[in-house]
Amino acid sequence: MPVKIYAHRGSSARFAEHTRAAYVQALADGADGVECDLQLSADGVLVLVHDEEVDRTSNGTGKVAGLTLAQLKSLDFSSWKGAQIPAESGGVGEQFLTLSELIDILASATRPIGLAIELKYGAVFDPALVDATLAALASRGWSAQTSTLENVRVSFMSFHPEAVAYLAQQIPAERLCQLLEDERVSTQPASGGPAEHELLALLRMAREVAEKLLDDGLAHIVGPSVEYVRANQKNIARWRAAGHTFRVWTVDSGADLELCLATGMEEVTTNRPADIKALLADA
Ligand code: G3P
Ligand code: CA
Repeated sequence: MPVKIYAHRGSSARFAEHTRAAYVQALADGADGVECDLQLSADGVLVLVHDEEVDRTSNGTGKVAGLTLAQLKSLDFSSWKGAQIPAESGGVGEQFLTLSELIDILASATRPIGLAIELKYGAVFDPALVDATLAALASRGWSAQTSTLENVRVSFMSFHPEAVAYLAQQIPAERLCQLLEDERVSTQPASGGPAEHELLALLRMAREVAEKLLDDGLAHIVGPSVEYVRANQKNIARWRAAGHTFRVWTVDSGADLELCLATGMEEVTTNRPADIKALLADA
């Protein structure tokens, strides 16, 4: 089976992440699927933003959860990247996407497309985001049994094991991905937050719960970072033997792709779908 390529926040090396241009480009690049990060706006709309705040990826400021859809739509989410937006992708104001708008883009494709939705949580799990996501998908004709909507095959991902466990009550395990990160890479203590060793202990605890969830088979897709794969070969081998499939992030280099091929990974998530596709064709 050829390795499937998921475009991480769209073709985000070329265009600003989560924008219309980035997703249109992902389809043109021949990606098998796309990844997105989902949050709720202040007025309860499902919007595509990675960070808790809009500051890094727009000309605005503040928390996504504190801004309405109209306020988010008034911001420029693309110019920070400096890439020219193609005419067919609209102007600056059309770049910010809701989940519904992303589905419209994917539904326009003439081939089956995977949509990997990451439910973005901080430390605290709140079922409202999952509930709103499943309700929005259902209103468009998605069914939980097949997790498919027209040509779009939807899967769900989260780092938060409580979110994955909650989804497991409603979604087939084959469409569920538990994300895993090597906590030594992710430790970035915030000022006023817990000290580094406390943060490391918390992250390790969450990771152990997530690993147990995979051992128990609640989620079928393992979603490790490249660093996690390198550092945790025993776990990878155990889940491989148990029949899990793997979706590794973020695979942008030849060396990282080699690692995935050597360990038999089925899916990779990349900011550079065209480059990874070309490397796979030469492999
Ligand atoms: O695809 C998983 C990956 O997106 C998780 O990390 O921080 O890029 O959302 P992050
Ligand atoms: Ca993500």
